[in-house]
Amino acid sequence: MKLSESTHWFSTPVIRHVSYGILIGFTLSVTSTSISSYWRLRRSQRISQEQFEFQPIDLRSDEILNGVTGLIGNTPLVRINSLSDALGVQILGKAEFLNPGGSVKDRVALRIIEDAERQGLLHPHTGSRIFEGTVGSTGISIATIAKARGYDTTIIMPDDVAQEKVNALQALGADVQRVRPASIVDKKQYVNLARRAAVEFGRSGIVKSLEDAHISHELQTGSASVVVTTTSSHVNAEGTVDDPMDEDLLSKPRGFFADQFENRSNFDAHYEGTGPETWRQVDGHIDAFVSGAGTGGTIAGTGRFLKSMNEEVQVVLADPEGSGLYNKVKHGVMYDRREAEGTKRRHQVDTVVEGIGINRMTNNIDLAIPIIDDAFRITDVEAVAMSRYLVQRDGLFLGSSSACNLVACVKFAKKMGWREGQTLVTVLCDSGNRHYSKFWNDDYLRKANIRVDHSLIDDLIAQPGPGGPSPQ
Ligand SMILES: Cc1ncc(COP(=O)(O)O)c(C=O)c1O
Repeated sequence: MKLSESTHWFSTPVIRHVSYGILIGFTLSVTSTSISSYWRLRRSQRISQEQFEFQPIDLRSDEILNGVTGLIGNTPLVRINSLSDALGVQILGKAEFLNPGGSVKDRVALRIIEDAERQGLLHPHTGSRIFEGTVGSTGISIATIAKARGYDTTIIMPDDVAQEKVNALQALGADVQRVRPASIVDKKQYVNLARRAAVEFGRSGIVKSLEDAHISHELQTGSASVVVTTTSSHVNAEGTVDDPMDEDLLSKPRGFFADQFENRSNFDAHYEGTGPETWRQVDGHIDAFVSGAGTGGTIAGTGRFLKSMNEEVQVVLADPEGSGLYNKVKHGVMYDRREAEGTKRRHQVDTVVEGIGINRMTNNIDLAIPIIDDAFRITDVEAVAMSRYLVQRDGLFLGSSSACNLVACVKFAKKMGWREGQTLVTVLCDSGNRHYSKFWNDDYLRKANIRVDHSLIDDLIAQPGPGGPSPQ
């Protein structure tokens, strides 16, 4: 073939068509990339501009509430703007720190007391006393509601919890007993001591009247965990009564062990309260519920309710250091490495985080484990970093368990590769003002060898997930 022929061949319609094809293909590819970037940008702008237009629930509306217990529940859901914008998802926190007793535990304390009253186990204004073993929050909630309802309170707690919780309890008029942290198998563990104190109520000298002292009968309660004693003598040996309306029985003081770890009312408070509220607030649009577990009531009750509405909702555990739950979820055994290493700072779980983490199975944990889809172990350093990040970026001053929950939200969203506006709901259990002396005290943290790392959360967000780096 001559050169002139080959030149001629290139200038034929064939080459023109090929060139047009390449040009059109290139234009189409550039256009589709621009359109998809445009929609992605629009979507993330819309998400942050809308600032979440969820249907509000009837929050503390114009009705007059009936006393302090009327303030419990119906907490708002707040968008955590910094994390949501950084990740391209919606991270929403149930603002439980707004409850009058300052934590999610108000719901549980109210439900336990109301259930006991409904079942005729407790009668207000009879000199009756509620006993509980708690790291603080539940005690404060019980003491608050007890005052409003006409009961006294004895709270038994480990002596290493933040002092401000003790101050709050004392201000609320509770009898506070601080004991050395001990394992649950030890009779002197704080929950065991609370149970025993309830059993001994009437014999213990807490009942001041001479007439009532040294008398106490245990009543059958229909529950293996809830203990009720009465100073009335109108009780049969096996704890039954002939006449439930007997005047002496109704008017004499009782001792009541609330037992948040085993009591079903704990679960019910969340299954019938926190769960339905959350579902309504997000109008059914929820992809994951993230929570820590102390007694397991919140994650079991809320998680089970949300899954009953949509089984696709992922229930995710945020577990602090020293707790055995993470391993229970991941490997079926409740075990934490630190237990073996003997590095424990505390006896319940080895962490600066208060309120979550546990090393034994309880009724409420039993209800939680089968519905937990994923779990994250959150280090003290991560929880501390998150708390500082949220104050800096959002002006949110939160307690340690809330910080753990939010670290788990970030880790889960990244693990799932979510960045298209998926919704994660978590619990903002209490405020930072319950944690000044430990979690929010940099000196304390330094001595406990817990680093305050101000860039850790940015680094966590920037880590590439399965779908590439997160949008900023
Ligand atoms: C501050 C705080 N956050 C979270 C929890 C955990 O809630 P739950 O007992 O429902 O597992 C507790 C429990 O006492 C708590 O005190």
